[in-house]
Amino acid sequence: MNQKKMPLIEALHRFKKKKPVSFHVPGHKNGRIDPGDLFSAAGRFDATELSTLDDLHAPDGVIKEAMELLRSHYRSMSSYFLVNGSTVGNLTMLLAACEAEDTVFIASNSHKSILHACSLSKVKPVFLEPEVDSVTLTPKGISQEVLSEALQRHPEAKALVMTYPSYYGHTSDLEGLISLAKKKQLMVLVDEAHGAHFTAGSPFPSSSLAAGADMVVHSAHKTLPALTMGSFLHIGTNRIDRLKVERALGMLQSSSPSYLIMASLDGARSYLAGYGPRDLDHFSNERKNFISSLQKLPYITVIEPDDPLKLILRASGMTGYELQQILEEQGIFPELADPLQVLLILPLLKEGMFYSEEFDRTIEALKGALDQQADSLLPPSMITSPENRVKELAMSVAEAELAPFEWIPFHASCGRIAAASIIPYPPGVPFVIAGEKLTEKKIDQLINWSSTDMRFQGEQRVKEKEMKVVKDCEERNE
Ligand SMILES: Cc1ncc(COP(=O)(O)O)c(C=O)c1O
Repeated sequence: MNQKKMPLIEALHRFKKKKPVSFHVPGHKNGRIDPGDLFSAAGRFDATELSTLDDLHAPDGVIKEAMELLRSHYRSMSSYFLVNGSTVGNLTMLLAACEAEDTVFIASNSHKSILHACSLSKVKPVFLEPEVDSVTLTPKGISQEVLSEALQRHPEAKALVMTYPSYYGHTSDLEGLISLAKKKQLMVLVDEAHGAHFTAGSPFPSSSLAAGADMVVHSAHKTLPALTMGSFLHIGTNRIDRLKVERALGMLQSSSPSYLIMASLDGARSYLAGYGPRDLDHFSNERKNFISSLQKLPYITVIEPDDPLKLILRASGMTGYELQQILEEQGIFPELADPLQVLLILPLLKEGMFYSEEFDRTIEALKGALDQQADSLLPPSMITSPENRVKELAMSVAEAELAPFEWIPFHASCGRIAAASIIPYPPGVPFVIAGEKLTEKKIDQLINWSSTDMRFQGEQRVKEKEMKVVKDCEERNE
């Protein structure tokens, strides 16, 4: 297929040339009503399901053609535009591939949307502990050994949900895991939110679609030039029922999908499909130069994970939050910080594109950084429980969230069941899951974090060192 084509964007340009008069939604009327000077450019493309512009929920024109090009690029069986992020893709994967009461293996570094997908699809999650990267102390992915242990304990399991790559850009033994899962007839559902660009070729890791995953989700907006919320969902094998996928997407996606988001997905696919060896060389050179300038700064350590689009920086004697603050004071915004480091996401540059000014400013900002006392805290996801690598919840998430509860001091909560999830954000990976039995290790870690700048989502009082727990049975029966 001709990957230079961008059918949806081209249709919108043709549409704009007609100088269309809007008597339809959206209310900004092709950007004419623009109270904050926001829509002037974009407004003309924020169209709706007019003739010639197709319909995401019943595609038979330019959107169908654009999704066909997407399918062809990723070599999937079917591919879909998502206008509500990978969140909606993760919900759809579980709803389409699993039945209520199915046992499903979930990597415990999963994004919160996977947890929500479990609640919506009413599956029984069993959590598998991922391996931890020894340098960044962040989770990588689950090992074959842990999957084998889980399969022995739960031969009835129907699916494996894994996050690949990790938020920090680490990969795992994808081929080995998928082949073991397939031997045991498990559906393999991959949250590849951070890997939409992997088809750009080596040195980028390979996509789980190529390794035989049954369904894969990509947050195109995270690493490709797509608008926020623009994502892809792919069906990789004929074990997935397309009708079920489309039924779920029909329920979960807006009936007024954004043409701006969809058009940006069309453009992002074409950008990626046209990414050639000279682009790769150029990107690699620019990145190499940036890294060598960073390495010349005496107090900075650069960590390179498997995905070359990610870089991790540490400053000796400083927490990641302090380093983030130094950068932000100079207008440089990393993706996230944790107690040890900051994470940068580099732009996927093509030949002739430069980010030199931004790289130079980053180096300048860091030169001004001061050495401070090292912080002994650990990053959000480093707690593992090797003695307990396969674990079930003591109570389902829904049951725990709806049960009578009480707030008690952290130090008294060991052995009790959490009534709410606690989610460090970013990265949005639950540290405590509603329904899990709290351990001393987890409580200690929360006590450490309570005095830092870490931000949390979910119903929580981390700063106050209080935990929301399910009331004990006797008390509930009183
Ligand atoms: C691993 C992972 N999966 C899914 C999501 C949700 O993606 P989106 O923001 O596109 O809905 C995120 C968001 O950060 C994520 O990190």
